[in-house]
Amino acid sequence: MTASSYGLRGRVALITGGTRGIGRAVAEAFAGAGALVCVSARDAGEVARVAEELGGVGLAGDVGDPEHPEELAEFALRAFGRIDVVVNNAATNQPYGPLMDADPDAWRTAFTVNVEAPLRLTQCVWRAWMREHGGSVVNVCTEGAGHVGPNVGAYSTSKAALLHLTQQLAGELAPGVRVNSVSPGLVRTEMARFVWEPGEADVAAGLPLGRIGEPADIAQAVLWLASDRAEWITGADLLVDGGTRVRAAYTSGGYAVHERLRSAMPPRP
Ligand SMILES: NC(=O)c1ccc[n+]([C@@H]2O[C@H](COP(=O)([O-])OP(=O)(O)OC[C@H]3O[C@@H](n4cnc5c(N)ncnc54)[C@H](OP(=O)(O)O)[C@@H]3O)[C@@H](O)[C@H]2O)c1
Repeated sequence: MTASSYGLRGRVALITGGTRGIGRAVAEAFAGAGALVCVSARDAGEVARVAEELGGVGLAGDVGDPEHPEELAEFALRAFGRIDVVVNNAATNQPYGPLMDADPDAWRTAFTVNVEAPLRLTQCVWRAWMREHGGSVVNVCTEGAGHVGPNVGAYSTSKAALLHLTQQLAGELAPGVRVNSVSPGLVRTEMARFVWEPGEADVAAGLPLGRIGEPADIAQAVLWLASDRAEWITGADLLVDGGTRVRAAYTSGGYAVHERLRSAMPPRP
């Protein structure tokens, strides 16, 4: 076993939102460690392209569609005969804005995609494989779930629920299945482009570790947490944020991320 394979060679990892950003980096990291990967996302062309690039398989679909998690679990099992790791990564940052203006349907969709879908997929994989054979689940939450911020009420509240779901499932599925989360700070992806692109240097200067995150920073944490190297860890949240949470002891300046969230809008999907 090499340091970077973490004993994952021949294991099967299912990654939602695996076509770009953090999910793509996670899928790449698993493939690089010798695992077989199954990716999902809504854009069928991207799913096919990434699956082929990584020597894995992929299924297009929306995690918010109640049928999709079951189809995904069955698809991965048919393709590889086992599912050792689930990474619930796909998410939405809509509806954006003050909660008093939030459309209840959009709010519900945020919870469907960010909370219900991870539960449904975990249920399907548990019933189909992990209950009998064990495994590991990693949910991608956010550093922002630990505090409030401008305009991200629906997103952060749903991610806080995902964090709680992680801990609840960790207790319920032990000892066979470990359930943990990784909470990224600001990472260079499409979802967060509206935050980091307008003034990356300002944001980076306010972070103790001096730069925004790269998708690979998060992927390495997910890989390790999913692997047997973390075999005595369940119900944990691994913060990968460049020191965002401890910035008050580093600088007396304002928080540039919140300034961006106040003044910019993510593009509507
Ligand atoms: N970037 C950050 O700064 C940051 C910080 C904290 C937490 N996070 C979390 O990290 C995770 C990944 O975010 P990211 O920044 O990498 O986003 P991203 O670059 O926008 O990528 C999102 C991925 O998820 C897929 N996806 C989106 N909605 C989906 C849906 N309803 N069903 C199925 N697939 C869907 C996308 O493909 P399609 O569009 O084709 O579906 C894409 O593959 C999310 O959970 C996010 O909340 C990100």
